[in-house]
Amino acid sequence: MKRAVEIGLPVLGMLLGLAGCQKGPVAPVLHPKANGAALVESSGGRQAGFVGSPLDQPVVVQVNDAQGNGVAGALVSLTAAGDATVTPATGLTADDGTFTVNCQLGGVSGRYRIVATTWDKQGKAITLNLDEIALGYQQNLGRQLNEKYCSRCHNQESTVERVSNYDNLATKPHSFNDGNFYNTVNDADIAAIITYGGAARHQSAEMPSYGGTLSKSDVDALVSYVRAVSDPPYHEKGMTYARQ
Ligand code: HEC
Repeated sequence: MKRAVEIGLPVLGMLLGLAGCQKGPVAPVLHPKANGAALVESSGGRQAGFVGSPLDQPVVVQVNDAQGNGVAGALVSLTAAGDATVTPATGLTADDGTFTVNCQLGGVSGRYRIVATTWDKQGKAITLNLDEIALGYQQNLGRQLNEKYCSRCHNQESTVERVSNYDNLATKPHSFNDGNFYNTVNDADIAAIITYGGAARHQSAEMPSYGGTLSKSDVDALVSYVRAVSDPPYHEKGMTYARQ
């Protein structure tokens, strides 16, 4: 037993030394300068865009060491489901440990999974899944109406360009991707509060009525948008999911 340990350690040392010389066992073309211990999303997951279009924001992942600090020069490789694409599909992380790619959605409405992979010092793959949402025509119309009329109150995140009104509301509305809530509400009830407003439904009067502004098909488009972006997903009969 003792002997095995004595023999084992130098062999392990040789193997590690070898891996160190080659700077990572998996990249014939790109030579990683370092390896991380974890792979996390920095931004860009769960975006929704029109089928076949590029997403508005890039997808950014970050390779970290065991202490959670970004690792520069680590190899990252990404693949997208179906006919969605990510560009570049492989590369080395920047000084802050991030790797940034652009994503083009596939041609069928539904969810597209992006799998990002990096490798630790032992050559073991570390993966991260990100889901992006391709919207059909009606759902995408709903997205545009949301941007124009709703997101300033329903989106919690303020941006420099469009400061959110969410923080100023006494009653906080739900984010449209809050599937735990919206998946329990039926289409007719969602359409009714949009059309008649909160006050008519004994809810907060801060929710305006849009019956005078939006047509019935606009309201239907908003409902289908809410269904398309919900997380966890809304399982409706006949809904198309992109192949994984
Ligand atoms: C001025 C702020 C404001 C705007 C703009 C706004 N809402 Fe609301 N909305 C609210 C508030 C506040 C509530 C919460 C009502 C309650 O729970 O009493 C709400 C509630 C709702 C609800 C009920 C479920 C929930 O989230 O609580 C739906 C559905 C809804 N809004 C859809 C929309 C749609 C679609 C638009 C755009 C066409 C929109 N809202 C625009 C403030 C707003």
